[in-house]
Amino acid sequence: MEFLGFHFSYIVIHHTFTAASSTQTARSRCELSQKCWTLQNEPSTHGTAFPAQTVDDIGLDIWPASEVLCRFLTNHPALATRATSVLELGAGVGLPGLLAALLGEALLMLTDYDPQVLEVLQCNIDSNSLSDRGRVHQVNWKTWRGEPDFGHFELVLGADLLYASALVKDFVEVLKHVLAPEGVFLMAHQIRRSILLDPKTRLPRLEDFDAPLELFQRIITDAGLHMREQLVIKPEKTDSTSDSEFRVLAVCWTETTLNNMPL
Ligand SMILES: C[S@@+](CC[C@H](N)C(=O)[O-])C[C@H]1O[C@@H](n2cnc3c(N)ncnc32)[C@H](O)[C@@H]1O
Repeated sequence: MEFLGFHFSYIVIHHTFTAASSTQTARSRCELSQKCWTLQNEPSTHGTAFPAQTVDDIGLDIWPASEVLCRFLTNHPALATRATSVLELGAGVGLPGLLAALLGEALLMLTDYDPQVLEVLQCNIDSNSLSDRGRVHQVNWKTWRGEPDFGHFELVLGADLLYASALVKDFVEVLKHVLAPEGVFLMAHQIRRSILLDPKTRLPRLEDFDAPLELFQRIITDAGLHMREQLVIKPEKTDSTSDSEFRVLAVCWTETTLNNMPL
């Protein structure tokens, strides 16, 4: 079926969501080009992936940055259609990775460290008929150092991964192992700044910078990687104590690869 030029009409995604202050499980139809989420509100058919006591696991939610990354991929489909291999790190329920695989014909590897998240990822691969070219692999940034080796990837994706400074150094080590010499790492990041008490006004305000993102930029540069901001989405309304700014960043081994990205 053709859908706005794509050969698929929607992505089926098993995930959790919070409604009326309780966490529920859902199987959603995700029509990205309309930013339309049709929550079918049916209990997940993949019962074992969602035991009641763990439904608040962060990887089982769809985070807004992953929608930002999906929109970016939808607007620049050549990034996915030209790639022969796609890897998503800290995939959660795997929406951007699934989209990239469905846009083109790449081999797909979805990774996370949480065993329950991995089960849901497998379910989402199967639900989108990607079992023949989609795989799930456990990768914990804190412990994985390239063994077992599953190769280099032309397109590496990540959404909302840098939410704590303690994760950043290990994350970049993994990235260095998996990014192909001419590969692109695309990351959607939600800016989160700490709240501090302004010494002059004595009122709470946001810090001027996002600490994990600053650290990431420093470590990336020290590792010899190159980074470029591709998209900044500013919040419609700003408030002195909350953030909803998003950035999409591209990271490559060379400046030439960054310049030649099919945008
Ligand atoms: C905020 S969630 C984002 C999930 C998904 N990318 C999205 O945007 O919907 C962060 C993800 O990173 C994963 N994660 C956290 N620490 C990790 C680690 N040490 N190794 C691998 N994955 C990790 C979590 O399991 C979770 O899926």
